[in-house]
Amino acid sequence: HLNAVILAGGSGTRLWPLSTPSFPKQFLPLPSGQSMIQETLERVAPLVTPQQSWVVTGANMAGLVHEHLPTIPETHILREPLGRNSAPAIVWAAETIARQDPDAVMAIFSADAVILEVENLRQTLQLAYQLAEQGKLVTIGIQPTKPETGYGYIRYAEEFSQDYGYTAFQVERFVEKPNLETAQNYIQDGHYVWNAGIFIWSVKAILAEFRDHLPEMVKHIQDIVSAGPDEKTLQERWPSLQSISIDYGILEKTQNLVVIPAQLGWNDVGNWEQYGALFPADEQGIRAVGAHIGLGSQNVIVYNNTARRIYTIGIEDVIVVEMEDMTVICHKTHVQRVKELAEQHHKKA
Ligand code: GDD
Ligand code: MG
Repeated sequence: HLNAVILAGGSGTRLWPLSTPSFPKQFLPLPSGQSMIQETLERVAPLVTPQQSWVVTGANMAGLVHEHLPTIPETHILREPLGRNSAPAIVWAAETIARQDPDAVMAIFSADAVILEVENLRQTLQLAYQLAEQGKLVTIGIQPTKPETGYGYIRYAEEFSQDYGYTAFQVERFVEKPNLETAQNYIQDGHYVWNAGIFIWSVKAILAEFRDHLPEMVKHIQDIVSAGPDEKTLQERWPSLQSISIDYGILEKTQNLVVIPAQLGWNDVGNWEQYGALFPADEQGIRAVGAHIGLGSQNVIVYNNTARRIYTIGIEDVIVVEMEDMTVICHKTHVQRVKELAEQHHKKA
């Protein structure tokens, strides 16, 4: 059976102050009115029952997850005492699912990416499921558009199989977050795709990989699951787990990876500009969420989370974020520096 697992542990500092440690970006609203995490579940909901749906998240966010995804059984919201990155989160879900259904296949999704071509995703998942049943670790590849250093790069080799209009390729190499020069070379090479962060594999296959590459982690988590898991064991054991992502921990090392390149209209919504771009623009290119009137302003994004009105005249390429207790104004060329601002803010606070 297919099980869907949503990873919702990130904090998304590049979208601060819309996204904060207690209200991370997966809970932000999209133009549909649903949050990112709600759309994430909705995309795959036709393929899985609530009994086959899981979320791994920080204990402090479990309440929000439950509010946003009321159909997911409480016991399927796995609550981490603190973040240990994606590898432990995946082992926990795999081990838990394996004890109910040893032959299960799991499809893992980030809670904080947008996918516009939902039908393409579902087709891709059909082929991925087939390959996962054969024991492969399946990733989904996105055609890169720039030498972005925040992603994993996958070099694909010969064709492995085809179905549902999609093709899976053997993976020759997986490199997580290369430096800029390396990323530029990969783009030039033409045989690389970005890792979308969507993984499909059987619980058997992934647990076998973890036993090979991170055996300590598997042992600890098996003990945790065997214990219930009860609060005490979790508190004692979870902090001692190695903090490592699935990308560095397994995907860079395994020989068992295949990739399905797919056009998903995928966007990982990493900064204000990407988030703003999801909302419709008026004739002047202004995208406003909340109250705003702009005269002669171009290419402006406004998020107004308050009842106060914001008026702009003659400004260009600017992003305005209005919250109850602060206003942040940023030129579009500086969106990557929001993270620095967030760090300074948290130091002062
Ligand atoms: N439950 C849980 N616990 N989830 C976590 C934790 C954790 O401690 N840490 C991260 N996650 C979740 C995040 O919420 C997100 O859904 C997913 O795991 C990926 O983590 P990110 O921190 O967002 O990773 P990244 O963006 O740096 O890189 C990953 O995603 C890229 C695509 O967006 C990698 O998989 C890259 O290879 C990939 O290109
Ligand atoms: Mg990310």
